[in-house]
Amino acid sequence: MAVPAAALERLVAAAQAAAARAHAPASHFRVGAALLLADGDVVSGCNVENASYGLTICAERNAVARSVVQGGRREVTAVVVHTACDPPGYPCGACLQVLAEFAPDDGGDIDVVLVNPAGKMVHTTLRALMPHPFRFDHDA
Ligand code: THU
Repeated sequence: MAVPAAALERLVAAAQAAAARAHAPASHFRVGAALLLADGDVVSGCNVENASYGLTICAERNAVARSVVQGGRREVTAVVVHTACDPPGYPCGACLQVLAEFAPDDGGDIDVVLVNPAGKMVHTTLRALMPHPFRFDHDA
């Protein structure tokens, strides 16, 4: 299902604001992510790099972690990712796997929208980017 226009506008603004707060002294590549939750909440995150490079956390996973801390039903229905490249960048595989954990309980998909400062937008879905995420019942 496409993200409603009013929600999309709000998500883009939140992702852009988050990207501006990125801690990216190593790559200077600022990423902002904004999640739309099933209850209507919008939660954002930015990438946070570290001098020990492998400890870097991506914007998308930071946003998911924040949403969990906030409590409630954390089903994600849409995510907007803001990067300053052209075309706008896709979430990495690790972030796709983590987003899949919070896909709607009814088996619904997550809308994924990529945007850059020029306003270029790419619309896709989590299922298109990662059709077969690992699931808890795979190791049962
Ligand atoms: N990054 C993200 O925040 N999200 C992704 O999905 C891919 C990469 C960040 C990590 C690092 O701080 C910078 O982008 C360059 O890789």
